[in-house]
Amino acid sequence: MKTISQLIGCGSYLPQNVVTNDDLAKKVDTSDEWIIARTGIKQRHFASDDEYTSDLALKAAQRALEHAGVDGTEIDLIVVGTTTPDRTFPATAVRLQKHLGCRTGAAFDVQAVCSGFVYALAVVDSMIQSGQAKTALVVGAETISRLLNWKDRTTCVLFGDGAGAVVVKAVEVEEQTNGQAGIISTHIHSDGNLEELLYCDGGPSTTQTAGYLTMAGKEVFRHAVTNLAAVVNEALEANNLQDSDIDWLVPHQANKRIIDSTAKKLKMPMDKVILTVEDHANTSAASIPLALDHGVREGLIKRGDLLLMEAMGGGLTWGAALVRW
Ligand code: UT7
Repeated sequence: MKTISQLIGCGSYLPQNVVTNDDLAKKVDTSDEWIIARTGIKQRHFASDDEYTSDLALKAAQRALEHAGVDGTEIDLIVVGTTTPDRTFPATAVRLQKHLGCRTGAAFDVQAVCSGFVYALAVVDSMIQSGQAKTALVVGAETISRLLNWKDRTTCVLFGDGAGAVVVKAVEVEEQTNGQAGIISTHIHSDGNLEELLYCDGGPSTTQTAGYLTMAGKEVFRHAVTNLAAVVNEALEANNLQDSDIDWLVPHQANKRIIDSTAKKLKMPMDKVILTVEDHANTSAASIPLALDHGVREGLIKRGDLLLMEAMGGGLTWGAALVRW
């Protein structure tokens, strides 16, 4: 017998405050035309001042638990992918654990910026397979608006806040096959030599402030296109799968042009790609579970579909996950 990880429910949450490109153009030297043409973004949601990452995570988690039909007290592992924790410590995951009324198991954050959800899923899958957890919550949650430098128009127009969550359950099978519902494989990478391309210029050990997000956009774009193509191929080859086997690409939503490029390399028509960048902008670790939940709730993604998730972010970090929904 083998233990595999099944995704049994999903949920998401977006703060109420919607900010359009035109709203931004009132305080930043930018335009709706530029932002749409370069990124595909039309609007983003921003958390209010008293709304924290753990609040967003809680709402997404509650919806995922409800969708899965699981009570919060059954959860024995919570992993939150976030780069905008409520506090430097403790982890946002333990605050979420408290809000959910859980007292058992383990809760911790994973810091891989925009790849945070894929990293968190990889960690949870390993822990479930090795018998360390039975029912886990995997969350991507961000208030990335807190790190935006409103004097830097090349970055401040690109991001939004939000959270998404999935409930992952241990299931015993005779042997794992590609046709079974569950996580088929995860593939994560990083290259710390490329840190200067995308980083936050603050931190408890350096400036004792949260700092501002800083990005060399063109170079990050170039690495994203290359690394994402490589990691999706790696995921397919590892499982003897073809491009045509994938039902849905559920990509990190940084830039529509990057998503177009990955879809083209996979020979996937855009109607097989879950696209939320237009409405959510780049929500960092939250973007994949937000897109997944959108696809499921809209009736696009159906049980049995093969999903390919992929992301790249600061670090640089990147990764992919193949999941049979
Ligand atoms: O999630 C983590 C991973 N992040 C990403 O994947 C983001 C990757 N990078 C990108 O998405 C794109 O590089 C950007 C959207 C950030 C920028 O697009 P670009 O096509 O690479 O534009 P650019 O940086 O080359 O800028 C082109 C022009 C410049 O003007 P000049 O020098 O040509 O006169 C910029 O000053 O656009 C100007 N510009 C703007 N204009 C209006 C830059 N930002 C803005 C703006 N509004 N917000």
